[in-house]
Amino acid sequence: MKQLVVYSSQSGNTKKLAEFIFSRLAEDKEIKSVAEAPDPSGYDVVAVGFWLKAGQPDPDSREYLKKCANVGKLFLFATHGSAADSDCATIGMNRARELAAGAHIVGCFGCPGEVSAKVLESAANKDPQPVWLKDAPAAKGHPNSDDFYKLAEVLTEAGLIEKRLPPEKGMFV
Ligand SMILES: Cc1cc2nc3c(=O)[nH]c(=O)nc-3n(C[C@H](O)[C@H](O)[C@H](O)COP(=O)(O)O)c2cc1C
Repeated sequence: MKQLVVYSSQSGNTKKLAEFIFSRLAEDKEIKSVAEAPDPSGYDVVAVGFWLKAGQPDPDSREYLKKCANVGKLFLFATHGSAADSDCATIGMNRARELAAGAHIVGCFGCPGEVSAKVLESAANKDPQPVWLKDAPAAKGHPNSDDFYKLAEVLTEAGLIEKRLPPEKGMFV
């Protein structure tokens, strides 16, 4: 089974999730940044990771997701300044689903990703301020061990990793 992990990451949060997923997949796997990612059609499983920008997947990921319409098993993962259970996060993930319409989506996972002080300051100076800004301070330190634990659970439910593989909580501190 050929497996590909593709990620877009400006400040490293989404890359951490990508590397975690890659580390947990069984053999016959590749990991690529979205800039160097191959045509997804040659793979049985493709996991695409993006960060939210202006309420939707970042532009590079949007382009790649459009190429994923024929993927047999697509897993979506994301980081964002907004809270995991927020409307912003849900809308962003739904947008990714729309972009990849036609693919068989086996699972998706999103979690907060730390926002730099510089980005926070620039967002705070906008008028109106973006809705995700109120959640962003709580994203500090994410993704953290709890996020990785949940990600392992979702990967298991999606059938992409073995049941025995999810780690004990705290393993990724
Ligand atoms: C220009 C910019 C726009 C952003 N827009 C959003 C947004 O609309 N919604 C959100 O939840 N987070 C937003 N964020 C926060 C990032 O999605 C978050 O920090 C993410 O974890 C960054 O991922 P990365 O480290 O992989 O680049 C934005 C960040 C930047 C720099």
